[in-house]
Amino acid sequence: MRIHKAVLPVAGLGTRFLPATKAQPKEMLPIVDKPLVQYAVEEVASSGIPMVVFVTGRGKQAIENHFDVSAELEQELAGRGKESLRRQLRRISGMVRFAYVRQQIPRGLGDAILTAQDLVGEEPFAVLLSDDVIVNETPCLKQMLKVFERYGRSVVAVQRVPRKAVSSYGIIRGRLVPDRDWQGRLYRIEDMVEKPSPKAAPSNLAVIGRYILTPTIFRVLSATAPGAGGEIQLTDGLRRLLVTEPIYGYVFEGTRYDAGDKLGFLRATVELALQRPDMGKAFRRYLKSLRL
Ligand code: G1P
Repeated sequence: MRIHKAVLPVAGLGTRFLPATKAQPKEMLPIVDKPLVQYAVEEVASSGIPMVVFVTGRGKQAIENHFDVSAELEQELAGRGKESLRRQLRRISGMVRFAYVRQQIPRGLGDAILTAQDLVGEEPFAVLLSDDVIVNETPCLKQMLKVFERYGRSVVAVQRVPRKAVSSYGIIRGRLVPDRDWQGRLYRIEDMVEKPSPKAAPSNLAVIGRYILTPTIFRVLSATAPGAGGEIQLTDGLRRLLVTEPIYGYVFEGTRYDAGDKLGFLRATVELALQRPDMGKAFRRYLKSLRL
């Protein structure tokens, strides 16, 4: 069983970044010079998945334009002899194939995934939330595909978070899979709950925005009532899926930035800028010169 499609829900309003997101999608906010959403699409492409399905909405056209060919811009750059920049832009539109469907009313992550059902069809697929930027030599999604290839079941990315932070996440209760191949990183999920209080949380293993889902999730989600925040929650759907199918939680290797949060966004900006060959050194010097 191969995964052919990755769903990227990008219809959210981005209220945490207002006023920056009043007239532009939050997914287009750049970390240094690359929009958040491009990090996610690059992860899809480098994991070997050939197609991205965007679940988009009003005011998000900039995302479509970003992944399209810009003939005028390319011509202009070619005319100015900026061939390498032109090639870099062209690469963006050729990384994978793109399809778009609109979520007419933002009714939650579960609803966004249901909106992609017709474009995904009756096959397993990946989901990436572009707020979560994950940096690692082997992409997070590629690590999860290994688990999927072995078991053919749904897999969610998990990470340990401080107890006091559990109420920002879906939290799992899981049983460690003792198989040596997974080096203590794989859990068979027994239960999960969306954004619990620290007291009610079954663990501190938080779901991070990477999922591989079997198509059974569509049937389950269409029968799932709105949950936390009045939205159809993917976590509630997964909890129901657990009744009929196993789900695995994989503690991925890599650094994850919560770019949906202002401080997380700044951390990503600083750390990724420091890693850049073209500006890392100069930026490090600048940071050191600050008298903090
Ligand atoms: C969503 C999911 C949550 C998950 C989180 C990961 O929440 O509902 O289960 O832990 O993404 O980033 P959101 O951050 O959209 O509120």
